[in-house]
Amino acid sequence: MVVKKIAVLFSGSGSNLENILKKVHDKRFSTCKIEISCLISDRKNAYGIQRAKKYGLSTNIIEHKNFSSRESFDKKIVEIIKKSGAELVVLAGFMRILTSEFTQNINAINLHPSLLPLFKGANAIEESYNSGMKVGGISIHHVNEKLDGGEIITQECFKKIDNMSFEEFEKKIHALEHKLLPKTIIDILDS
Ligand code: GRF
Repeated sequence: MVVKKIAVLFSGSGSNLENILKKVHDKRFSTCKIEISCLISDRKNAYGIQRAKKYGLSTNIIEHKNFSSRESFDKKIVEIIKKSGAELVVLAGFMRILTSEFTQNINAINLHPSLLPLFKGANAIEESYNSGMKVGGISIHHVNEKLDGGEIITQECFKKIDNMSFEEFEKKIHALEHKLLPKTIIDILDS
């Protein structure tokens, strides 16, 4: 069976990474097996590193402070990804804007916790919660040089019920992410 390799990039908790490890990594689908061949974190204290260890996977820690420019940082991660043979890169909470050095060489998707094009950036959950909108949601999109600006692949939303607390809203976002991201990776690769 064909093995399709993916890379996952993260900066923080890594709950989406763990969910991919549980539902996608080393699993067989109708036409292929999918394997994580590369993990990269730009933060050495990212909890995702511990989550990956439980699955026997080590993470490349690439800190931007060791690079003189965004381009040289991106060049390094492109090199690591290419070496790993990954054909799809999943940004799961990777908190950096990538340059064309990355976007022109790598096929990547990003998970974002709002209904794009609304609420781009790092405070998407707070901004959508406070927006007065009656729905919240998530997006998965192709990655280009613009912050959360690549072509949208898929989205899902939920009704924001009256008096919903911020914690409930946030929980709902993460539950949707954990459902939609693995499904999207499988849809892209298993066809
Ligand atoms: C997710 O909400 C994702 O949409 C955003 O960063 C968060 C990462 O969460 N880009 P985790 O590290 O996977 O728990």
